[in-house]
Order: sequence, then structure tokens, then C-alpha cells
Amino acid sequence: MAETALDVRHLAKPEAYRALETQGRAVLESVDDPVAAMATWSSLLHHGLGHLWTGFYRVVEPGRRLRVGPYQGALGCLDIAFGQGVCGAAAVARRTVIVPDVHAFPGHISCDARSRSEIVVPVFGPGGELLAVLDIDSERPAAFDEQDRLGLEAMMRWFSSPAGRAGRG
Ligand code: SME
Repeated sequence: MAETALDVRHLAKPEAYRALETQGRAVLESVDDPVAAMATWSSLLHHGLGHLWTGFYRVVEPGRRLRVGPYQGALGCLDIAFGQGVCGAAAVARRTVIVPDVHAFPGHISCDARSRSEIVVPVFGPGGELLAVLDIDSERPAAFDEQDRLGLEAMMRWFSSPAGRAGRG
């Protein structure tokens, strides 16, 4: 595979996400394995955007517990209960949560003291079931906005869209 990591920090966010999504979908073209896909999206997003921590918490007990999955960055905490922290809040709400200031979010779980802002995006499977959440932490305050939400939600549709997964389309 001749792919190299794209650094898209010089691009406007919509273009940056489009470039990463195109590369991810190409890399995953013949793949039907959610864990391999989580590893691929984590790597692309981490090296492409240069934030502090990029990765997935998987639903291991529906409605109750998330456990760390593929990620890039320093050690993340292993288990998060639904409703706990930003990841648990997004899992319960089944919606993206953007936190401009993690210190102002009640119950934020700090895995890295350098983290200042965060976005957590739910990841749904083909049947609409919650598979995981994607968590990105940044050293910069208010690093994430609606453009990040739109770009990341589009990428995460790889997991739910039959056309986006080999052998399912
Ligand atoms: N900050 C997250 C926990 C996960 S780590 O930051 C990697 C949260 O509040 O859910």
C-alpha cells in the first residue's frame, strides 16, 4: 500500500475532512471489519489534524459501558459508563457533543491534563445500533465547531452505510 499520512492542517476544515474521508474510504475499500476501520480512521484523523488524542470507545454493554478501542495518543482510560464524561454523554444522547472548554463540562474525564476541548461523535452500525463513539481531544480551547461535526459525522457513516463497507453493498 502506497498510502502516506496526509497532513491537512493547511486546508479549510470542509476540504480537510473531505480529503481524509476520501483517503479513508479508499484504504477501507475491501474491508468489512469495524475494528480495522476504527484503527484506520484514528490514524488518518490523528496525523491529519494533529490533535492530542484521537480514538474510539466501543459499546461493550449496550446502554451501560464503553471500552477503549483503537486510538492514537497517550494512554486513554479503559472503561467509561454510559452517562459518564463527554463520551458517556454522547453515547446516551446518541448525538455529537462539542465541548469548547473541558474544565467547564461537569464530569469530564481527564486522561491528559493538556486537553482543553473535545468532540465526541456517535458511531452507528447498519441497523442504527450504537457501535462506538469517536473522541478527539485538543490542546487548543474551542478547537471544534459545526464544521468538525459535519466532517466527522460524514466519515463515521462508513460504519452504517452498506455502500461504505465491502461485502455489504
Ligand atoms: N475525556 C473523555 C474521556 C476519554 S479521554 O479523554 C481519552 C470524556 O470525558 O469522556
